[in-house]
Amino acid sequence: MRHLISAADLTRDDAVLILDTAEEMARVADRPIKKLPTLRGRTICNLFFEDSTRTRISFEAAEKRLSADVINFAAKGSSVSKGESLKDTAQTLEAMGVDAVVIRHSASGAPFRLATSGWIDAPVINAGDGTHQHPTQALLDAFTMRRRLVGRDAGLGRDLAGKRVTLVGDVLHSRVARSNVDLLHTLGAEVTLVAPPTLVPVGVETWPCEVSYDLDGVLPKSDAVMMLRVQRERMNAAFFPTEREYSRRYGLDGERMAKMPEHAIVMHPGPMVRGMEITAEVADSDRCTVVEQVANGVSVRMAVLYLLLGGSEPAVAPATTRTE
Ligand code: CP
Repeated sequence: MRHLISAADLTRDDAVLILDTAEEMARVADRPIKKLPTLRGRTICNLFFEDSTRTRISFEAAEKRLSADVINFAAKGSSVSKGESLKDTAQTLEAMGVDAVVIRHSASGAPFRLATSGWIDAPVINAGDGTHQHPTQALLDAFTMRRRLVGRDAGLGRDLAGKRVTLVGDVLHSRVARSNVDLLHTLGAEVTLVAPPTLVPVGVETWPCEVSYDLDGVLPKSDAVMMLRVQRERMNAAFFPTEREYSRRYGLDGERMAKMPEHAIVMHPGPMVRGMEITAEVADSDRCTVVEQVANGVSVRMAVLYLLLGGSEPAVAPATTRTE
């Protein structure tokens, strides 16, 4: 694997290797000094053309924990606002000697274009493109599910075979949903999408999942329920659902959460719109893994960077030589 553009590009073995490597990386977070020398002397550019809190900070934390030099680029305040193209921006970075580019862009396909254009030679990691893909989000979600539903140590080497995962909400605009459907299918999980009919993508019948409009019927059969944000910024105002109607039919409140099996978890990629897709009672409950997902994101992104750039050195020293 030279780039990470889409969760659909990952084989089961690729994905399990990333999840297992992320478990190794997670040990670093438990140390007093949360740093490995693995990417010392390598320069990584975080190229963000669209807003982000979790993904941008998480990649930066992951890069710094691997001792890389980090360049943060935000389109706001750059020469992009003067009309500079992606090609010229990329070639400027190439001239400065970056070893990898992490890119978020509002245009679906921008990371693929960057990776295949020949404009730069460095590996490209997709940090979310339009409504298309967000592969590291799907990996951190799978990592969280594996830890919670299979076990931290018991999960090593294993996938999510037979786990039932329900994604709820604005599937139409969700790159998180697309990435999760692809990755969860590869990992053997059974995925059900629940969405208002106007927020189900055309062609969904070709996706490797079921579609339901009955949230209350699906909840008792779910091991994990992932609520999706209603992405008003990508919607025509005419299609805005009213908050009250949306919450009544597709929102998760305490009463609905009680219909889930006792072991089942509630997930959300963030940012959450409390009161719309999820109530504060559910978001702040012990069953909600949203903060855990953020913490796991750093380990997963360290694993991806290590596997794309790390070379032959072991990521983490063997237990006998570890200084913890
Ligand atoms: N989950 C996610 O991508 O969040 P950000 O938009 O804050 O990065």
